[in-house]
Amino acid sequence: MRTNGQARPAQSPPRRTRPAGHIRPAQTIAAQEDGFRIPIRTSDDILEARRRARELAAKLEFPSIDRTLIASAISELGRNIVHHANQGEIHLQSDEGARGMVIIATDRGPGIRDVRSALQDGSNPEHGLGLGLPGVRRIMDEFEVVSRPRQGTTVTVKKWKPQ
Ligand SMILES: Nc1ncnc2c1ncn2[C@@H]1O[C@H](COP(=O)(O)OP(=O)(O)OP(=O)(O)O)[C@@H](O)[C@H]1O
Ligand SMILES: [Mg+2]
Repeated sequence: MRTNGQARPAQSPPRRTRPAGHIRPAQTIAAQEDGFRIPIRTSDDILEARRRARELAAKLEFPSIDRTLIASAISELGRNIVHHANQGEIHLQSDEGARGMVIIATDRGPGIRDVRSALQDGSNPEHGLGLGLPGVRRIMDEFEVVSRPRQGTTVTVKKWKPQ
């Protein structure tokens, strides 16, 4: 290969490439541009995601009550990944110039058979003691579920800072 003779610009170390769909082993947390991607397999991973979310929420200057609500949403979405899909990831990032925070919980599990009914309070007879998806929807400002049978589930929620 020819080079043009110019000094090479300083470069960050090359990123290791991974096969598409690969989920990193637990405990390795990838920093994104302004957020984190946390692999979720165990309750310890959920605790780590809560800790990171609280940190980011503090950095974005969310009031303390919102930091607690964000941590609660992470617990619920993380538990759903562990219980219903075995493993997945939680992505945390700021949105719209730090006006809000986005949480994306994603997995390649069995998917939710009937999303509409999963979002209705009391629709699930085996519903545990947690907030459930309807509770997460209530405490966040934006909420979206995309789920396909045998392909997985992605729940995206946002919390905006008070004006
Ligand atoms: N990530 C997921 N993958 C597959 N199914 C899911 C996932 N998240 C939720 N579900 C389905 O949606 C239903 C409703 O979820 P929800 O969190 O409201 O209740 P739950 O997890 O059953 O009980 P609780 O959260 O109160 O312990 C679940 O029972 C499950 O069938
Ligand atoms: Mg649940």
